[in-house]
Amino acid sequence: MNTTSTTSSPAVDVETLTKHFGDLTAVDGISFQVEEGDVFGFLGPNGAGKSTTIRMLTGVLRPDAGSARIAGYDIRTDTEAAKSEIGIVPEQFNAYPDLTAWKNLMLAGELYGVPRETRQNTGTELLRSFGLFERRHTPTSEYSKGMKQRLMLTMALLHDPAVLFLDEPITGLDVESQRLIRERIAELNQEGRTVFLTTHNIGEADRLCDNIAIINRGEIAAIDSPEALKQEIERTRAVEVSFSETIERELLAGITAVEGAEKRGDTFRLMTPDPDAVVKAVVTLAKEKGLTVLSLQTLGPSLEDAFTDLTEEDP
Ligand SMILES: Nc1ncnc2c1ncn2[C@@H]1O[C@H](COP(=O)(O)OP(=O)(O)OP(=O)(O)O)[C@@H](O)[C@H]1O
Ligand SMILES: [Mg+2]
Repeated sequence: MNTTSTTSSPAVDVETLTKHFGDLTAVDGISFQVEEGDVFGFLGPNGAGKSTTIRMLTGVLRPDAGSARIAGYDIRTDTEAAKSEIGIVPEQFNAYPDLTAWKNLMLAGELYGVPRETRQNTGTELLRSFGLFERRHTPTSEYSKGMKQRLMLTMALLHDPAVLFLDEPITGLDVESQRLIRERIAELNQEGRTVFLTTHNIGEADRLCDNIAIINRGEIAAIDSPEALKQEIERTRAVEVSFSETIERELLAGITAVEGAEKRGDTFRLMTPDPDAVVKAVVTLAKEKGLTVLSLQTLGPSLEDAFTDLTEEDP
C-alpha cells in the first residue's frame, strides 16, 4: 500500500458517473468523493444502483458517462495503475469452486503480480487472520457462505491495496463470520486503508462508517456522517401521547411547536422540532382540561427514519 504518493488525491473521486441498461438508468450522473482513510458506506435499497456503481469504480463495467478516479488514477484511461490500488470483494463468490482456498489465493496473487515468496508469506498470514488456515486445502465448493466471504477478503488483500471495495460484505452471513469481518474491516481501516462498502443494512452502515451516501433509484439522496444524517431529520421528531378521554385532534394540533398531528388508533403523534416544549405543553393542556395522560413519549430520530425519509417513493 503506497500512501505517500496519494495524499493529495481523494481515495475515490466520482464525477457524473452514469450507466444505462437499455431504457433503465441504473446510475444517474452521481458525483461524490471518499477521503483517504475513511470507511465509506453506500447505503440503498435493492436495485438502487450500488453494485453497478462498484463495478464501474473497479473497472469491471464501463460507464456510459462521467469519470472515476482511484487514488488519483482514472479507471478508464489509467486502468492498470488504478487497479493496483484496488481490492475487490464482489457481490457473488468469484473463486474457483474446484480449487482449494490456497490455490485460489496464490492465483489471485499471481494475477496481481505479487512475487512468489510474498504471495506465500502474506497468504499464510491472511488465511490465519481470517480463520481459514486450517481449511486451506479444502476445495472452496465445500466452504460455507461465511468462509467464502472470508476467502474473498484474503484474495482482495493479497496485493496490499490502498482502497478496498466490498459489495455487501456482511449480509446473510453467520454471526461468527459477521463479527470477524466487522473486526477486520475496522483493523484494515486503522492500518490506513480506505474502505468502500455497500449495504442495505442501516445498522451496519451506522456502526461501521465514517460517512454514508444514501443511493436511491440511481441517484444520491444524501451524503454525510451517520450523526449528521440523523440530525438532518431532527425536524421529523415526534411526541406520542394518549389520553383516557376522547379528545379532538385540533386541540393538540393547536399547540405551539407542533407542526403536524396524526391520530393513530388511540394515540396521537405530534411532529415537532422541539419535543421538550411539546411534552410540557401537553402536560399543561391536560391539567387545564382535566384530562388523564395514559402515555407520553418522545420519538428520537434514527438513521432508519432518515433513510425512509430520503428513499420513500414519491407520492
Ligand atoms: N447487467 C444488467 N443488465 C440489465 N439490468 C441490470 C444489470 N445490472 C443491473 N441492472 C439493473 O440496474 C439496477 C441497479 O442494479 P444494482 O445491481 O446496481 O442494484 P443494487 O443497489 O446493487 O441492488 P441489490 O441491493 O439488490 O444488490 C436494477 O434495476 C437492476 O435490475
Ligand atoms: Mg447489489
